[in-house]
Amino acid sequence: MPLKIALFASGSGSNAENIIQYFSHSTTFLFPVIISNKSDAFVHERAKTFQIPSVTFSREDFSKGDEILGLLKEYNIDCIVLAGFLLKVPEVLLQAFPNKIINIHPALLPKFGGKGMYGHYVHEAIAAAGETESGITIHYVNSNYDEGDIIFQAKCRILPSDTPDMIAEKVHKLEYEYFPRVIAELWR
Ligand code: GAR
Repeated sequence: MPLKIALFASGSGSNAENIIQYFSHSTTFLFPVIISNKSDAFVHERAKTFQIPSVTFSREDFSKGDEILGLLKEYNIDCIVLAGFLLKVPEVLLQAFPNKIINIHPALLPKFGGKGMYGHYVHEAIAAAGETESGITIHYVNSNYDEGDIIFQAKCRILPSDTPDMIAEKVHKLEYEYFPRVIAELWR
């Protein structure tokens, strides 16, 4: 039986696209639907090019969770991957998908995580703190932002001259390289 994974993304969706491309010839990993909380997120354009339906839920509907759970059941979803998704996952989804929801965070948790620490804010904070390394953390999702058990981390060096944009580029490289592989390994 193929594993059906829902991708959740709030913005550009470059990780979602990279994952879809990585598994494009797979018969065991399928991505039947993309879910977003922003109707104008670029991830919808990417979804169109892959002919994958993408659905937007408002913040309110998302936090209630029952409608989204209904949709996930319609698509027979087994697992959820948060690929640049910025809302808290509601309890109803955590209970329906125990240990089946993972997230990628663009830093080495537990550093630079928590509410408000996402996307570019993370890289700005790392540059401002003069960190000498950053990286990615792939972790299970629980009811607190960025606190679920860590599955995988990869590091990159940060130079004093690195701007937040340069840090973002290094981190994105790690995301593209490792996120699909970790998914494949975790749920094969
Ligand atoms: C990624 O760098 C991801 O790690 C980060 O958002 C970016 C989304 O980029 N996620 C978080 O900050 C979650 N706390 P993308 O939309 O191009 O994949």
